[in-house]
Amino acid sequence: MSDSLRDSRCDIGFIGAGVMGKNLILNLADNGYRVCAFDLDQGRLNALLEQDAKERGDQPARVETCNSYTELLAKVKAPHLIILSVPAGAPVDDVCNKLLDAGLKADDIVVDTGNSLWTDSVERAKRYEGKLIFFTTAVSGGEVGARFGPSLMPSGDRYAWSRIEPVWHAIAAKVDPASGQPLERFEPGNPVTEGEPCAAYIGPIGSGHYVKMVHNGIEYADMQMICEAYHVMRSALDMSPADIAAVFREWNKGPLNSYLISISAEVLATVDAETEQPLVDVILDRAGQKGTGLWTAVSSLEVGCPAPSIAEAVYARSLSTRKVLRTRAAKKLQGPAVEPIEPAKRAEAIAELHDALYCAKICVYAQGFDLMKLAAREQGWELNFAEIARIWRAGCIIRAVFLQSISDAYERDVKLSNLLLDDFFAEQIAEHQGNWRRAVADATLKGIPVPALSSALSYYDAFRMESLPANLLQGQRDFFGAHTFSRVDRPEQQKYHVQWSEPGRPVVEI
Ligand code: 6PG
Repeated sequence: MSDSLRDSRCDIGFIGAGVMGKNLILNLADNGYRVCAFDLDQGRLNALLEQDAKERGDQPARVETCNSYTELLAKVKAPHLIILSVPAGAPVDDVCNKLLDAGLKADDIVVDTGNSLWTDSVERAKRYEGKLIFFTTAVSGGEVGARFGPSLMPSGDRYAWSRIEPVWHAIAAKVDPASGQPLERFEPGNPVTEGEPCAAYIGPIGSGHYVKMVHNGIEYADMQMICEAYHVMRSALDMSPADIAAVFREWNKGPLNSYLISISAEVLATVDAETEQPLVDVILDRAGQKGTGLWTAVSSLEVGCPAPSIAEAVYARSLSTRKVLRTRAAKKLQGPAVEPIEPAKRAEAIAELHDALYCAKICVYAQGFDLMKLAAREQGWELNFAEIARIWRAGCIIRAVFLQSISDAYERDVKLSNLLLDDFFAEQIAEHQGNWRRAVADATLKGIPVPALSSALSYYDAFRMESLPANLLQGQRDFFGAHTFSRVDRPEQQKYHVQWSEPGRPVVEI
């Protein structure tokens, strides 16, 4: 085709050149897509062009910028593919409306890649129906993931997916299909093109952002459990941050291998140049949170799916922010007298912690996948859990060798009702639960909070218990509120009430 006929316009319009947006744009450019970028902040566009020029050397420019939504639509091939990387909430609608005002057409596609609340995505698809095709893709992996290979969780209109599938497959993180190991290369201009992409169509609009939300809930719990293991090693085992970094590096060679374990070792091994103290000791112990973990915990309560360790991870962040109160409480509230650990017992205690983290991690993933299952049932989504675990093997924040085992479990039984019932995971916990229990008990006796590690243990014990004390609870409810109960020796749908104030407390059928 002659150049004059070749469409000189860009392949993709991209709105939002912040940390994630800039890196996604450069990733798209590395993979041969010509991108026209727009941002209200001209400084961000200048930084993007400078980065592109620096990376491409004497190669032709791969990224253009523009100064208005109208100019963006003129510079991008039609029907337009417009990707957004803007803060969740009102900014997404603001941009959609400005694009419509600028002349966006009903067959143009807008893709929201922010951490949007999944119910907002469902509402937006309805709101813009007939005006534009609203599609979403949740992105995991932070700025490095965005730049060199994120995990992508797209959902929505199937036509939109057919348009963006090759783009997402190109820029996504890749996994070696033979080993399940990530294929990573962090070289601008030299993207990984081989391997399985960590991008797969999740389902109807909203489902992709729901899955990402649960990813973040699992992420919160994973991070919290690592912090609890650190806390025990620091406080009860009297180990230095550098010692603990070495332990985490060792753990990273086995079933706990994961991005979060590896970066935790890096944080603990880092020394603050100004004070020459371990960096972790100069970081204020007040955790931030943008909300996705909270959303997951709220959804678990709404759906009626126990996810205690995810909720405890959110509470732990909230409690950490009450620094002033905790400082006062530390002066007033007694803990147990703690004997320094005998050095000879340290290795055993570390091994117990390892197994506690491993078993609790299995329970956290069981909670997360159970939540996705119940939510999918409620929403009518058909989620492929083997595929979801597969696209989490690389690129995303919870990426880990462990995800291959989860994918294998769902391949073995596509209708697996809970990860704990998979033979492999049941055997893993059976083999390691003794150390898990000892680690949680020891931390408790030493007064060290392990809310995620211990809640996972109670989740496991309750899950495997045929008889729970909910019979007494039903009696309590009937005593004060006449809320009735079922009998074990009658059909469950038949309800009974005790006339508690009558002589003999007769049980009457309701
Ligand atoms: C990811 C991360 C990311 C996360 C932010 C803020 O998957 O890349 O989960 O989306 O939301 O890093 O996380 P907080 O909720 O901890 O602030």
